[in-house]
Amino acid sequence: MYKILKKKLIAPGVTQAEIVAPEIAKKRKAGQFVIIRFHEKGERIPLTIADADTEKGTITIISQRAGKSTAFFENMNKGDSVIDVVGPLGHPTHIKKYGHVVFLGGGIGIAPIHPIAQAMKKAGNRVTSIIGGKTKDFVILEDWMRQASDAVYISTDDGSYGNKGFVTDVLKELVEKGEHFDLAVVIGPVPMMKAAVSLTKEMNIPTIVSLNAIMVDGTGMCGGCRVSVGGETKFTCVDGPEFDGHQVDFKELMLRLRIFDKYGKQAMELYESESKNEKCVMKKVFDDKE
Ligand SMILES: Cc1cc2nc3c(=O)[nH]c(=O)nc-3n(C[C@H](O)[C@H](O)[C@H](O)COP(=O)(O)OP(=O)(O)OC[C@H]3O[C@@H](n4cnc5c(N)ncnc54)[C@H](O)[C@@H]3O)c2cc1C
Ligand code: FES
Repeated sequence: MYKILKKKLIAPGVTQAEIVAPEIAKKRKAGQFVIIRFHEKGERIPLTIADADTEKGTITIISQRAGKSTAFFENMNKGDSVIDVVGPLGHPTHIKKYGHVVFLGGGIGIAPIHPIAQAMKKAGNRVTSIIGGKTKDFVILEDWMRQASDAVYISTDDGSYGNKGFVTDVLKELVEKGEHFDLAVVIGPVPMMKAAVSLTKEMNIPTIVSLNAIMVDGTGMCGGCRVSVGGETKFTCVDGPEFDGHQVDFKELMLRLRIFDKYGKQAMELYESESKNEKCVMKKVFDDKE
């Protein structure tokens, strides 16, 4: 069992939690993730290790409510325990001195961006980060990103904070002003990564993306997380999760991510109705006591 030491909501539907997992905290490297099962009957879901504290023996994960498992996690409390945390999984990011590295993080994608930006800065790179969200409320981890970067730019779709528009608009503007980037790291929703890599390809900036393919075992056995990269089949869990963004077949990834949508929706509806019933039963017990 892995105890939740701290937990808070950092944006609508976005939960940040510190979980006691000393072995994982010691071994994890930037770019890696864990597979978590929140309770005995729960499914296994992958979440990035956004940060770790080796002294406290904790890892920090940041989860966005997308369906039943992430909604269940949002409803857990500090002091509760999750049943399994497996990791660290996946290849760590290849960290070295590239020169000037630009990070593009969209929404929950800012969580996986953070440890990579930290490590790239530590390796002597100049780090520019462009982070964005739908609205001001969805721009997460701004303070963390400021600490991990030499410069931070913010964009929101509606202009409620920072530049109005997409993170790619900011990148375009910076390059037009004469900034040179040796590497781009792009993590966020698939349509955002697709748009960003087509821009960085035009700009001749080598680009790494981290893919959120559907995972089951996380060990290369089930084939659930397969993606096409440069015409070859790769398993995101063991060959990734980072790949050359200019080689990824994003169209296929988008289709595969939707495969289980019907079942995810059914599971969420059932979970919501069960939670509602539970609340009604609790209210009745409470009312009867009164
Ligand atoms: C390497 C990796 C790192 C990730 N890191 C984070 C993170 O730090 N924070 C975060 O909020 N999310 C992260 N995700 C995505 C997260 O795993 C899914 O949002 C989560 O599994 C959804 O589960 P659900 O039951 O709440 O929703 P569901 O209703 O089951 O699914 C909602 C959507 O989530 C995706 N999804 C569902 N099951 C899985 C699965 N087993 N594996 C991957 N995607 C799935 C599908 O696209 C689906 O349409 C990561 C995914 C991968 C592969
Ligand atoms: S999750 Fe099963 S092969 Fe990657």
